[in-house]
Amino acid sequence: MVEFVSDAVKERVDALLKQYPVKQGALLEVLWVAQSELGWLAPKTVKWAAQVCECSPAHAWGVATFYTMYKHAPTGRFLLQFCQNICCYTAGAESIISLAEKKLGIKAGETTKDNLFTMVRVECLGACGNGPVMLVNDDFATDVVNGELAMPLNIGLNEERLDKIIAWCKERAAKMPQEPKRDPLGGITGAVHGEAQALDFAPAPPALGIKATANENGVSVVWKIAPEVTAIALERKKGNKWELIGNPSVKDKEFIDASGKPGCEYRIITKSGERVAKPSAVSIS
Ligand code: FES
Repeated sequence: MVEFVSDAVKERVDALLKQYPVKQGALLEVLWVAQSELGWLAPKTVKWAAQVCECSPAHAWGVATFYTMYKHAPTGRFLLQFCQNICCYTAGAESIISLAEKKLGIKAGETTKDNLFTMVRVECLGACGNGPVMLVNDDFATDVVNGELAMPLNIGLNEERLDKIIAWCKERAAKMPQEPKRDPLGGITGAVHGEAQALDFAPAPPALGIKATANENGVSVVWKIAPEVTAIALERKKGNKWELIGNPSVKDKEFIDASGKPGCEYRIITKSGERVAKPSAVSIS
């Protein structure tokens, strides 16, 4: 048991349970936090969740197997979740799923031998207008735009865009040996600022549209933020770590990194009061 539930998870769960008059009410969230440990729920982790939530293991197991967001086996680095529900189905989800199975050499529910991709079929992802759609880990992806996964308005998956997404995943795996660890809200953790993110149902809004462009002055970084943002931290990657390179004001729209070079990676972490947003997407100059 101990090896599946770390002290950090226990601490978060203890804090969570205090917010619920009936501990069983916290079960969904306890399972979610516990899953962040390994990326999946082992049967003994589910039993542990049942114990701390004071419900039967059968009930916890029923909950954990009902929702597709809970995983019961290790998955590949990129979990590709293809929506098969009605809107996506009528927009051609079945042919996209078959194409993906053919291109990856696996069936939905399986993982590639190199552990890079796991494919699953899921029900409505709530992005019906873009059908057919998929999630790559926690991100919607129907295309790759400016080197990032994206779901442009009314653009669904087709063969060409599916190829781009698969190529993006392979390229990322080659460039970045390990996928950044995500917290239970989907934010990337392990960052100087991002790791302080609190478990909150209304997290601070992250910066959007970050774009780094190398020019004769170094690297120009631009972004967009929501009005409630009160502080901005701009970070550049050095080796495996992110370094703070500046705190532009919330009125700024651009930052010039005079020591930046082509190929540098940038991201932004915003704050709204004391709440820290998940890091923005990464932009490479
Ligand atoms: S039916 Fe696919 S996202 Fe809703």
